[in-house]
Amino acid sequence: MSTRVLPPGPTDPATEQVRRYIETPIEFWEACERDFGATITLELGSLGRVILLSDPEHLRELFRLPTEAFECHQYNEHYRYVMGDLSLLLQDGATHKRQRRLLAPMFRHDQLLPKMSEMRDIVLRIVDSWPAGKAFNPRPSLHDITFQTMVRLIFGDLDSPTSSALITAYQKSVSGQVGSWGPWRNFSRMQPQIRLLLADEITARRADPDTPGFMTHLALSTEADGTPLSHEECEDHVFSLLVAGVDTSAISLAWALHWLSRKEDIRERLIAELPQAAGEETGKALLSLPYLQAVYAETIRMYPIVPTPSGRKLLRETTIGPYTFDEGVTLVPCTYLTHRREELYPNADEYRPERFLERKFAPYEFLPYGGGARICVGEMLAKYEFTVAVSAILGRWKIETTDAPAMRPVRHGTLLAPPDSVELTVH
Ligand code: HEM
Repeated sequence: MSTRVLPPGPTDPATEQVRRYIETPIEFWEACERDFGATITLELGSLGRVILLSDPEHLRELFRLPTEAFECHQYNEHYRYVMGDLSLLLQDGATHKRQRRLLAPMFRHDQLLPKMSEMRDIVLRIVDSWPAGKAFNPRPSLHDITFQTMVRLIFGDLDSPTSSALITAYQKSVSGQVGSWGPWRNFSRMQPQIRLLLADEITARRADPDTPGFMTHLALSTEADGTPLSHEECEDHVFSLLVAGVDTSAISLAWALHWLSRKEDIRERLIAELPQAAGEETGKALLSLPYLQAVYAETIRMYPIVPTPSGRKLLRETTIGPYTFDEGVTLVPCTYLTHRREELYPNADEYRPERFLERKFAPYEFLPYGGGARICVGEMLAKYEFTVAVSAILGRWKIETTDAPAMRPVRHGTLLAPPDSVELTVH
């Protein structure tokens, strides 16, 4: 029997709830869960009434909702200035479905596997300039790796005028800002010039459909009636992939290095496993190394980089578990709290990759990439980048063990990341 009673939640004014949600999210979510349980009603200012969900059974129901039942663009509005009006994150309904069908094939295994050796070259070229024996913050170079990987995939090379211009624009405007709340703000100011370059790319690829890179796929794609995609839409997809796919993947690498420099036993076990993939280091063999894949999963379980995937604003009355919610309420999965559930992850505060060798988790128990119709389109790319980068770094450098305490994440906009003070020493 469903009931009309809303889940409990804090009675603080909305402004205070917003402040805590933004400034101290982990402490706020943990306090709410302690006081009110797994399903919590919040009042979040412009987002209105928000229900935070972390019970796996409720998430299973949420991820199964038909796309006609909710919208996400309201929750993702803050990306509009940098991703563009036609970004996937800002679409719902039929347009969202069409755009997913357009983008998803670019990030499938058969597309990405042949690119793994180029990804490895990018990693090795960038980490080669790390300073031996001297503590440094690896964050900017990790963002360079994931940015250049994305540029390489989209444009097919790193040396063309467009690729070079994008890399320069990124290094000038974003690289030094990776720990800030809006690292892409200055980049977005260069959009008019970048759009001119992208327009030339679209024209050139329509004239020569054999040009490598995802940009050709976008340029040659059509609407259902056969008309080519607008320039604006192709360009907005490029901006969306760069913004959604670069910082997220780089932060997963930053966390991996954070843990591997603190957990010598885990690092040694991982290093011992890598030779099994020797000779095939950039391909399938790496992806099937169980401990490397467990380290990957545990890294994005421990501190989910996107701790709250897109909120689903209900377009009709909807029942989840014992609750029936009115149209207009926003349901937000709280991945952070689900990944902290003791019955799923005993000693959840401990970084222990072995837990992923001991049992399998359902998609509503382990959800670093969200779920359902909005699940991250770049999930496979992020996994392949992690696999390639971590194995390449461990092959190139010896990581020094530090006895510095583990760090708590901080908010970088919508993402959770290690604080800027994170340091690494390599030999
Ligand atoms: C470790 C790396 C990454 C993490 C943790 C991550 C996480 C997420 C999450 C949680 C969502 C929201 C899903 C939902 O609402 O259910 C999302 C959406 C999205 N991600 Fe990722 N992501 C990562 C890497 C990437 C990469 C590499 C790309 C680009 C290829 C990408 C592109 C996108 C896009 C376009 C969406 C919007 C999907 C939609 O609204 O339909 N992400 N991601």
